[in-house]
Amino acid sequence: MKKKVAIIGVTGAVGQEFVQSLNDHPWFEVTQIAASERSAGKKYVDAIRDDSGIVAWDVGGEIPDYIKDMPVLTIDEINVAELDLIFSAVESQAARDIETKFAKDLPVISTSSAYRYEEDVPILIPGVNDEQAELLEVQKKNRDWKGWVAPLPNCTTTGLAITLKPLFEKYGAKKVMMTSMQAISGGGKTGVSAMGITDNILPYIPKEEGKVRKETRKILGKLKDGKIEDADIRVSCTCTRVPVIDGHTESVFVETEKEIDPALAKGTYETYNKEISVAGLPSAPEDYYAFHEDPTRPQPRMEREVGDGMTTTIGRVEKEELFDNGIKYMLFSHNKKMGSAKGAVLLAEMLYKKDKI
Ligand SMILES: NC(=O)c1ccc[n+]([C@@H]2O[C@H](COP(=O)([O-])OP(=O)(O)OC[C@H]3O[C@@H](n4cnc5c(N)ncnc54)[C@H](OP(=O)(O)O)[C@@H]3O)[C@@H](O)[C@H]2O)c1
Repeated sequence: MKKKVAIIGVTGAVGQEFVQSLNDHPWFEVTQIAASERSAGKKYVDAIRDDSGIVAWDVGGEIPDYIKDMPVLTIDEINVAELDLIFSAVESQAARDIETKFAKDLPVISTSSAYRYEEDVPILIPGVNDEQAELLEVQKKNRDWKGWVAPLPNCTTTGLAITLKPLFEKYGAKKVMMTSMQAISGGGKTGVSAMGITDNILPYIPKEEGKVRKETRKILGKLKDGKIEDADIRVSCTCTRVPVIDGHTESVFVETEKEIDPALAKGTYETYNKEISVAGLPSAPEDYYAFHEDPTRPQPRMEREVGDGMTTTIGRVEKEELFDNGIKYMLFSHNKKMGSAKGAVLLAEMLYKKDKI
């Protein structure tokens, strides 16, 4: 028997990716979907039409058959008694009330920031900090809920935390400087206008840099006595929006406590690839990390399909002379796959295996 799941925010950029990621899933079956009042009452295929009536399916390929005629519900019409899990992909202000309402009865996996910074809420990246999932039990007890809220990080934090994890553990990464070149789809279906982003770079994304700083420290932190102790790592970043459709690229400089040889970095990531906890789960890629010595990689157009968007690509690894010990590198991470919807499905698979769903 598959677990019955609902997608909230199903018409949005991340919601559409959820629809695709859950198509023919071996363990989860989408039985209910919801969005705002604007979409409620329509069949899915009609709810995703834009104002001029064009079907705005942004994932690529065909809309899966299972969803085309499914009715889009309001939040209040969702029947929690017939569900095992909620996937939430709504903007954070609306998400706060919605996720609170559902977590009273059910597990909620969220791509929004609504709960990320609460003391009894872990920010989970499957394969990076699985052990912090134990905090969900504390959260349940604290709030007297039957469920919990498990958020993923901001999609820009995801690639950074994934690539820093081995460097933090093995070499003691202590200071990080990062500049992101973030895709248009990261802003959601109405995030940036075509006129604003074409032939342009937007040098500011509201609230993004603070999120990356805070989340990285929490994700790489340690769960101790029912709380997460933030990692002792300082992060400075500049987040920009560039005219790329999907996938965030980041330029990273890391100062480490121990000497770090860029030539050995590849081996470090290869070792992590072999030991990754999520290996073999239905949404896990064959390689969690891809490492390139060709200095012309990573490129969004070449990397975004690798591992169906679930592989994080690293390239341009060089010694950084500004620090006594340190390296610089570039990374690519798919914001809608590993960075949100499909990453959330992988998180659900990891939590299912831990008997939390
Ligand atoms: N885009 C990314 O790459 C990305 C990556 C990581 C995390 N996130 C986070 O994921 C969440 C969703 O992002 P998105 O990019 O998919 O946004 P989006 O494209 O703007 O979609 C928002 C979705 O939420 C629905 N919605 C809005 N207000 C609602 C309400 N009051 N009740 C019920 N549904 C409501 C919308 O429904 P209607 O269509 O009916 O308006 C739509 O389905 C955000 O919190 C975002 O920060 C996004």
